[in-house]
Amino acid sequence: MPQLGFGVFKVPAAEAQRTVETAIAAGYLAVDTAAIYRNEEGVGAALASAAGPVVITTKLSNDAHEPAAARTALTESLRKLGRSSVDLYLVHWPVPSTDYVATWRAMIAFRNAGLATSIGVSNFTIEHLQAIIATTGVVPAVNQIELHPAFQQRELRAFHADRGIVTESWSPLGQGGGLAEPVLLTIGQKHGRTPAQVVLRWHLDLGLMVIPKSSTPSRIAENIDVFGFRLDADDHAAIAALDRKDGRLGPDPVTFGA
Ligand SMILES: NC(=O)c1ccc[n+]([C@@H]2O[C@H](COP(=O)([O-])OP(=O)(O)OC[C@H]3O[C@@H](n4cnc5c(N)ncnc54)[C@H](OP(=O)(O)O)[C@@H]3O)[C@@H](O)[C@H]2O)c1
Repeated sequence: MPQLGFGVFKVPAAEAQRTVETAIAAGYLAVDTAAIYRNEEGVGAALASAAGPVVITTKLSNDAHEPAAARTALTESLRKLGRSSVDLYLVHWPVPSTDYVATWRAMIAFRNAGLATSIGVSNFTIEHLQAIIATTGVVPAVNQIELHPAFQQRELRAFHADRGIVTESWSPLGQGGGLAEPVLLTIGQKHGRTPAQVVLRWHLDLGLMVIPKSSTPSRIAENIDVFGFRLDADDHAAIAALDRKDGRLGPDPVTFGA
């Protein structure tokens, strides 16, 4: 899969086709959506009109963990996307009050049936990952987690590296909020780049998959123009120091949906 893709959380259904077409025209080769984003139809329409293949990820909603409901949910996502299979299908959240191990077994069946080329999870902690791997022996290809300079997830990344799980960063730009950070401005000035480009380059240098979202054409182009420079060791040390214990922006997977 391309290391850098395009996220479409909060892109309204009516704008999804146009926004994803703009992204594809700018060079993005992968799109990250989810059933709960309610824009799969627009994403599918944009992919159908693309000149070449674009990799698509979608996700199983929290209210569809029960295996029969999961099967219905995947069928519905495929219908909306206009595809017979999805490239990467993720369990969106573990939802600890559900039998997420049974959900993972259903995901394995989807992959075995050819409905998903690869399967993975999102927002799983080490404990959640250990439970599904120990029970099924099947390691998720990807764990998509909140990850940005203010919330760097070192322990979980190390576990992923040990198990061969790809880390994919959601809200990689910290939802735009941390981009005024002086350290990022200084590093950007040094390389003639914007703070967003510095942050995306940081994800790529760490070997993470990354899926920035923007509805702004100039930013869509800016966020993929990150392959012509590299950060040095000083830059990496400065960004490493931005990690904060309270840096999480989204819900805590240990309690979310419980
Ligand atoms: N698995 C999960 O639970 C989960 C949760 C959240 C997100 N995600 C995925 O991750 C993707 C990205 O996360 P996200 O959308 O939460 O946040 P993000 O990509 O970190 O940030 C998006 C925000 O930053 C702004 N922005 C984008 N590029 C910018 C730039 N170059 N300069 C300044 N501001 C910029 C955008 O504004 P404009 O749009 O106005 O340009 C938008 O408000 C989502 O779209 C979704 O696909 C997954």
